[in-house]
Parts: sequence; C-alpha cells; structure tokens
Amino acid sequence: MDSELRKAGVTGVGSYVPEKVVTNYDLEDIVDTSDEWIRSRTGIEERRIAKEDATTSDLAYKAAESALNDADLSPEELDLILVATVTPDMMFPSTGCLLQDRLGATNAAAFDLEAGCSGFVYSISVATQFVRTGAYDNVLVIGAETLSKIINWEDRNTCVLFGDGAGAAVVQPVESGGVLSTVLGADGSGGELLKMPAGGSKRPASLETVKENLHYIHMEGNSVFKFAVRAMGKGAMKALEKADLEKKDVDFLIPHQANIRIIDGAAKRLNLDNDDVFVNLDKYGNTSAASIPIALAEAAEAGRINSGDNVVIVGFGAGLTWAASVIEWS
Ligand code: COA
Repeated sequence: MDSELRKAGVTGVGSYVPEKVVTNYDLEDIVDTSDEWIRSRTGIEERRIAKEDATTSDLAYKAAESALNDADLSPEELDLILVATVTPDMMFPSTGCLLQDRLGATNAAAFDLEAGCSGFVYSISVATQFVRTGAYDNVLVIGAETLSKIINWEDRNTCVLFGDGAGAAVVQPVESGGVLSTVLGADGSGGELLKMPAGGSKRPASLETVKENLHYIHMEGNSVFKFAVRAMGKGAMKALEKADLEKKDVDFLIPHQANIRIIDGAAKRLNLDNDDVFVNLDKYGNTSAASIPIALAEAAEAGRINSGDNVVIVGFGAGLTWAASVIEWS
C-alpha cells in the first residue's frame, strides 16, 4: 500500500447475540429435518433468534457500545458509522442513521452498505480508505442482522442455516501494522442464486408477493456452495498477495461462518491447522454480515489473536460477492 498514506487498524471490537437459543432439535419440530443432517452438512448445532419486537439496530447498538468501550472512544468522537446489513430496520432511513441517533454520535456521518455476507469486510475496506487518506479519524463499522425476520420457517433448505447477531469494530489510525490489504470482488451474474425477490422496485410489496413468500430468503444452496469454496480460497490468496505475504505468514483465519465444509476448504488452501481457524458456526449458524465481526470479537476476547499476528478475514455472500483482508493485529 502507498507509504505516504496513514496506517489504519482495528482498535476495538464488540459483539452481541440475542439470548434465545434455537437448537437443531427445536427445528425438527418445525420442518422435516434432523439434527444429524444439519450437523453433518453444515456444522451448525444451534442459532440465536432475536425477540419478535427486536430490530437490527437494537442488536447493532449493543455491539457498537461494546466496541466503543473496547476502543475507549465516546460516540461524539465518531466521524462515520457504517452498517453492513441485508436486514435493515426499514428500507430507509438507513440503519446507520438510526444507530447514529441512538448512540448520540452527533458528529458522525452514517450509511448502510449492502454486500450480503461480505458486507463487513467490504465496510472495513471503505473505513480503511477514509482513515488512511486522513479524511476521518474514528470510524465505527458494524455487521448486524435479524435474518430470522426474512426466513421462511417452512423452508428446510434455508431455515436451518441462519441466525441473528451483531458485531462491531472501530477503525482508527495506528502507528504500525493494521489493515495491510483489502480485496473486494463481485459476480452479479450469480445474483439469482441468493436473493429476497420482493419488497424493492422490481416487485413492490403486495398481497401477491406476500402470498408467494417472496419476502423471504430464496437460495440455491448447492450453487452458492461451489461459488463459496472458490471465492474463499481466491479471496484469501489475493489479500495475501496484495499485502506482500505468503501462506506461511498467516497466523489466524477468521472466515465467514456459513458451513464448516466451506471453512475447512479455506483452511486447507492456506495450510492452516484447526487451532489457527476460528469457528463459532456451531453456536450461531450463519449471521451474514455479522458473522465475521462476531467471530473477530470472540477471538480477541478469548486471546486467540495476539499483537503482531497476521489475521485473514474472508467472506462471500449474496450479490454474489466476496471479500478478504489481512490485518496485522495491534
Ligand atoms: N434437512 C434435511 N434435508 C434437507 C435439508 C434439511 N434442513 N435441506 C435440504 N435437504 C435435502 C434436500 O432437499 C436434498 O434432498 P433431495 O436430494 O431429495 O432433493 C438433499 O438434502 C441434499 O441437498 P443438497 O443441496 O445437495 O445438500 P448439500 O450437501 O449441498 O447441503 C447446504 C446443502 C445448503 C447445506 C449447502 O449447499 C450449503 O451450505 N450451501 C451454501 C449456503 C450458504 O452458505 N449460503 C449463505 C451464503 S452467505
């Protein structure tokens, strides 16, 4: 990266998941599935589900508070709030603006970024540019989702996979290390594989769209799986190359938590042992844009990442999109 620019790093992390646990056994009562099928095909054992009246910004708020505490930063000091989500509280105003008001971040600009499950890594990339150029000093990046609200609980192909939660990170200038590289990618030709068909300008909400279940997640799991395996490996390798690093330089991998078989594939591509890969998919399922920041916060809290470690974060998702970053932890 250009040496005349400042360095940007992650200086605080936080996460929040709702209390309610729904196990695979609970789902056996709802759809024709089994704990054995879900566990063996995905690695998921349970997921957290938000209360009926809880919003994405409610979850985001708790994760944000925790990350701000961790970075020892007050909301008034924030210059920008970026919320990555596919489940905003409403189409507009943005969840970022709702959060800005609730935090009392009166000096911050705010917007949402929609890149599916890659949204958090995309947002880290955006935040990094603002900090490196000197435009902003204090950026709060959040991945937050209430996917339970757009899940068809009668569709066993999708309802077993997802969960709710939020994770947050503060991005600020750092003296050394920090975000060494970010790479972003998209293949819009695969957009049909993972989508919520109605509620936008193409199919505005109507009695028909509701009757046809078009306000739920629709996914062709097998095709997304194939894309994911390729994208995770390619993304991680490109991010390393851009940071002028090799596989052997990776200390820890934080992959998007969608399927243990996809995670294992990425770990193998980087020659990493299980100990060097963070997995919490068993507890939370796929929380989309929240998955990587929740994992990052839990890994930091558990002391699994240490100062000076090269941490690779990599994800893929609706769009289709993929994104990866190498962060030298400080
Ligand atoms: N319980 C029991 N059976 C199920 C099931 C469930 N919850 N969901 C699907 N099945 C069935 C299918 O109907 C299919 O049955 P059929 O062969 O009679 O038609 C069978 O299991 C196999 O389905 P298949 O899609 O081939 O399984 P898979 O090994 O590809 O695993 C996924 C399915 C969804 C777990 C996997 O494809 C995956 O993880 N894809 C990526 C999804 C993803 O990450 N999405 C988010 C992107 S951010």
